[in-house]
Amino acid sequence: MTTKKRVFSGIQPSGNIHLGNYLGAVKNWVAGQDEKENFFCVVDLHSITVPQDPVELRFQTRALAAMLLAAGIDPKKSTLFVQSHVTVHAEGCWLLNCVTPLGWLQRMTQFKDKSAKQASVGVGLLDYPVLQAADILLYDAHEVPVGEDQKQHVELARDIAQRFNHIYEEEFFIIPEPKIPPTGARLMGLDDPTAKMSKSLAHVRGHAVRLLDDPKEIMRSFKKAVTDSGNEIRFSDDPEKAGVNNLLGIYKAVTGKSNADVEADFANARGYGDLKVGVAEVVIDFLAPLQARYQALMDDPAELDRILAIGAEQAAAVSQPKLREMKEMMGLVLPVSGNR
Ligand code: TYM
Repeated sequence: MTTKKRVFSGIQPSGNIHLGNYLGAVKNWVAGQDEKENFFCVVDLHSITVPQDPVELRFQTRALAAMLLAAGIDPKKSTLFVQSHVTVHAEGCWLLNCVTPLGWLQRMTQFKDKSAKQASVGVGLLDYPVLQAADILLYDAHEVPVGEDQKQHVELARDIAQRFNHIYEEEFFIIPEPKIPPTGARLMGLDDPTAKMSKSLAHVRGHAVRLLDDPKEIMRSFKKAVTDSGNEIRFSDDPEKAGVNNLLGIYKAVTGKSNADVEADFANARGYGDLKVGVAEVVIDFLAPLQARYQALMDDPAELDRILAIGAEQAAAVSQPKLREMKEMMGLVLPVSGNR
């Protein structure tokens, strides 16, 4: 029996993975691999809660899995899988739907934001956080490493777990904790430091740094980054200096330096131009080896499929029995044959 803490986290394959996703979440997934038992999931069922091009989604699902491996997820230490390959996620979502009050979902900030942008809103968009709760709870995860924007969804998963436990069996579900990094939990758009860097805007030039951007594009995005009319290069929570603060935060998260050391690195800068180039350079150097590994993985699709097939098997071995227990508790008759 393992005594390691169990970790679950997920990332959507819609759009291009960007530096915010990496620094806010994936970096922590990689860092915790040795001391935790990890499940990392490419959540394709979450992506289809808004319209997707099927060909593009299929490509992005595999590309994201390759990118996670390139970023350091080691399949010998962690289980990496595609959500739709393990069908109990969708079933678990249904069971949890039946104990989740509608009002809890209508209050979710992300639902309100996303539904305001859609002409027609599918039920899946409202149900999105219940599927996320199923992801987490079916694995008895203690910790959920995410960026700041996912905190509310993890808190909802806690509420749903508590409600289920109260109705059916105390302590059946582990109550999961969101794990938010001290630096990089909320990267802002380079073109607008008042709004978070977002995957759905990652195709807009100058908004985000995508992990696959080439050095020229990265330099161009940073050079165009919105700052302020001053010239002081220091960390600050003054909304006026949000742009400079964001750039320093990126530099800090990538280099792992302290605030004082980061500011010292720019003490002789001649202005924001030097800051932008300095940040771009560390990001370019950091991404180069990752991009090379990504390419090698994409050139070997059979190996990628093999890793994902093993991941799905390992994931199902944990989540299927949990779903079976849920069904029994809820009064469903389990089939005589088969293990589900
Ligand atoms: P997703 O795909 O939007 O984002 C993946 C991770 O990246 C973090 N993130 C950011 N961090 C810092 N700065 C930003 N600008 C930024 N933008 C995104 C997110 O917080 C997230 O950790 N619903 C989830 C996926 C999910 C999930 C789960 C997560 C599905 N099931 C179970 C945890 C556990 C999502 O859409 O993430």
